[in-house]
Amino acid sequence: MDTTRLSGKNILITGAAQGMGAAVAVEYAAQGAKVCLGDINVEGAAAVAQQIRDDGGTATHVRLDVSSEEDAAAAVAHTVAEFGSINVLVNNAGINKPLFFLDITRDNWQRIMDINAWGTLNCMQAAARQMKEQGKQDYPYKIINVGSILSREAFDDVVVYSASKHAVLAMIKGGAKALIEHNITVNGYGPGVVRTELWEQLDKDLVAIGKFDKPGESMDSLAENMILMKRYSYPEDVVGTASFLASADSDYMTGQLIMIDGGMVIQ
Ligand SMILES: NC(=O)c1ccc[n+]([C@@H]2O[C@H](COP(=O)([O-])OP(=O)(O)OC[C@H]3O[C@@H](n4cnc5c(N)ncnc54)[C@H](O)[C@@H]3O)[C@@H](O)[C@H]2O)c1
Repeated sequence: MDTTRLSGKNILITGAAQGMGAAVAVEYAAQGAKVCLGDINVEGAAAVAQQIRDDGGTATHVRLDVSSEEDAAAAVAHTVAEFGSINVLVNNAGINKPLFFLDITRDNWQRIMDINAWGTLNCMQAAARQMKEQGKQDYPYKIINVGSILSREAFDDVVVYSASKHAVLAMIKGGAKALIEHNITVNGYGPGVVRTELWEQLDKDLVAIGKFDKPGESMDSLAENMILMKRYSYPEDVVGTASFLASADSDYMTGQLIMIDGGMVIQ
């Protein structure tokens, strides 16, 4: 591993207390970045930051609810106070709660959209305002939004989540056009089926609404029937692409969503 690939990058990662956000933060730090881990689970974020420091990296953490404008501004300010500036934002925080189409409630819509869609835009704005203020640098500032296979597909039991992740794709495209004048690129990656807490909960919820009969069936069924590589993934499967998008190797890219789904969605 190149331990200097991300040297000089000061990176805020949302939803970094566990799952893919934590794995990406650990990888970024191992590649030389200074990372700020934001999460509503402040103890979890603090523990991952401590683990990174124990391993010789540079990390801090902050309590962050991505749907709060005050929190987003404060998380960016904390990153700048600790590291001097912010160069990269990773919008990773996200939730899911499956319901069949006719069972969807306004509350289900508002909660998922508030965190996945508004939370992404809110943090993009907070970071972009700071990047604009910092002014031009030789290489682009980067915003990386975590989409999903459901940025390009929709399933009958997760329509609201799909809508929120289509919104994330729209913000990658529209954000790229809006922010390039400030030397900010906007890209993203779209995982498929990843074994994290989110999916453990989703698996339970899918059994509860009657989509699958027993725990564990959802992942195995999708792997067998819908993933070309015939396996689901782990957070380690996304860190390479996440690092590429934070690194100089992606400097001439903007407005793109890269799928990391074992061949689940091909468009
Ligand atoms: N697991 C999958 O199969 C999968 C597939 C495609 C996309 N994704 C997306 O990847 C991202 C990470 O998912 P994961 O599977 O690692 O999930 P996870 O549940 O393991 O981690 C999500 C983190 O986000 C935090 N979070 C939740 N609401 C928040 C809020 N309002 N403000 C700040 N932090 C908040 C949680 O505390 C948690 O630490 C999400 O955007 C998710 O939608 C996941």
